[in-house]
Amino acid sequence: IAAQQAEQRGWHLYLVGGGVRDLLLADPDQPVTLNDLDLVVDGFHQSADVGAGVELARSLQALYPHARLDIHGKFQTAALLWHNDPDLDSLWIDIATARTEFYPYPAANPEVEASSIRQDLYRRDFTINALALRLTQPRANELLDFFGGLLDLRSKQICVLHSNSFIEDPTRIFRAVRFAVRLGFEIEPQTADFIRYAVSTTCRARDACLGESGRVVAPALQTRLKAELKYILQAPDWKPALKQLSDLGALSCLHPTLALDAELWQQLRLVDRWLRRFDPQQMFPHWQLLLDVLLARLAPLERGFVAQTLQLPKDSITRLTTLSQVQEQLTEALPKAPRPSQVVQLLKPYDVPMLMLVAVRSSERSHRQQIWKYLTRWSQIKAPLDGHDLKRLGYKQGRQFKQILERLLAATLDGEFGDGEFGERGGSD
Ligand code: CTP
Repeated sequence: IAAQQAEQRGWHLYLVGGGVRDLLLADPDQPVTLNDLDLVVDGFHQSADVGAGVELARSLQALYPHARLDIHGKFQTAALLWHNDPDLDSLWIDIATARTEFYPYPAANPEVEASSIRQDLYRRDFTINALALRLTQPRANELLDFFGGLLDLRSKQICVLHSNSFIEDPTRIFRAVRFAVRLGFEIEPQTADFIRYAVSTTCRARDACLGESGRVVAPALQTRLKAELKYILQAPDWKPALKQLSDLGALSCLHPTLALDAELWQQLRLVDRWLRRFDPQQMFPHWQLLLDVLLARLAPLERGFVAQTLQLPKDSITRLTTLSQVQEQLTEALPKAPRPSQVVQLLKPYDVPMLMLVAVRSSERSHRQQIWKYLTRWSQIKAPLDGHDLKRLGYKQGRQFKQILERLLAATLDGEFGDGEFGERGGSD
C-alpha cells in the first residue's frame, strides 16, 4: 500500500538498511517478520522534494488512523507506529526522503539535503546495511547494491563504505562490533584499521565521543552511544563484543584510561553471575549494572562525569559518584560486623545495585559473602512476631514497641531461637 501511494505520486519507494539485510540473511524456508522497517522515497527522474517522505507517511496515516505518526522536522523524516494492533501487531516504519548528509565537524549531528537513493545509501554505515529493495513499479523487487553489500553478506564481512565513516560517527565503531558478534561476521581488516585510526585520532582526544572535560559537544551523539552500549551489554553475547571493543581500543571512546584488564573482566563476570542468580526476571536492568562496573574502574572523580556525559539514568550517576565513599565505609565496617543482624544494620541503607557494585569490586572474599547472604537471605528475614502480636500479648504501643521488634529481628537473624544463620558457612562466588 505504501508503494501504491508512492507510485500515485510519481515516486520510487525503497526498503533499506537492516530490513533488507535481515531478509537476505533469513532462512528461505522460514517466514520472516520485520517489525522495524526503514523506507526511503526518491523521485523518478530527479530527487524527490525533501518533504516527500513526510507526505507519504501522512497519506498512510489517513488510511490507517490507528497508527501513531511522529514527524521529525529537522531531518524531514516520519515514523508510523502500530502498537499491539490486531492486524499488524507491533510495527514501526520510518519513512525518509533520499538524502545526503554533511558532517559540519567530526561526530557532529549531520546536516541533510534531499538527494538520490544512491547518495542516500552511500551515507550509511556498512555495505551490508547499504542495500535497497525497490518496492515500486517498474522494476519492483529489484535489489540495489551499489557497494558490494551482497558479496559482503555472503562472505560475512562488516565493511565500511568510506574511510571517514568512523570519524564522522564514532557510534559506528560500536555498531561494527555489535553486528559482527550478532551475525557471526568478521570486521574486514581495512575497516578494523579505520576503526583503530578513528580511535587514536578522535576518541582518545575525547573531543568526539565525550567532549573535553565539562564540555558536551554533541548531546545527541552521547545518546546514540549510550543506546549502542545498551544494545551490546544487554545481548547474550556481550562478552565477545566487549572483548572485541577492547581489542580495537574502542573502550577509550568512553574514557582514555578505560581498559579491559583481568581484574575488570573478573568483576564483570562476577556481577553477571550474581545478577543471573539473584535477578533472573531482570527486575534491574542488567546492562546498566555492567556499565556501572565498567565505569567504576575509572578514577573516582571521572566516574560521575562520564556517567553524566553519557546521560545515564540518575540512579546510576548517583551510584558512581558516591561509590568510593560507600566502599570505604563498608570495607572498614564489615569486618567489625560478625553477626548477621549487624550486617543487616550496615547494609540496609543501600540498594541492590550499589551493594553488588561494592561486592564485585571488593578484594575480600568474606565481604562478598556477607553481602551475598544479606541480599539473598538476611534482608528477607522477618521477626517472628509483629506489632499486632505484641498488642495481643498486652504490650502498649510506644517506643518500647520498636525496640522489642528490632531485638526480636536481631535474635532471629543471629540464631538465638536456634534456626538462624549465625556462623553458617556458604559460598557466594
Ligand atoms: N545507520 C547508519 N549509521 C548509524 C546508524 C544507522 O548508517 N550510525 C543506517 C544503516 O543503514 C542502518 C539503518 O540506518 O541499517 C537503520 O539503523 P538501525 O535501525 O539502528 O539499525 P538496523 O540496521 O536496522 O539494525 P537493527 O537490526 O540492530 O535494528
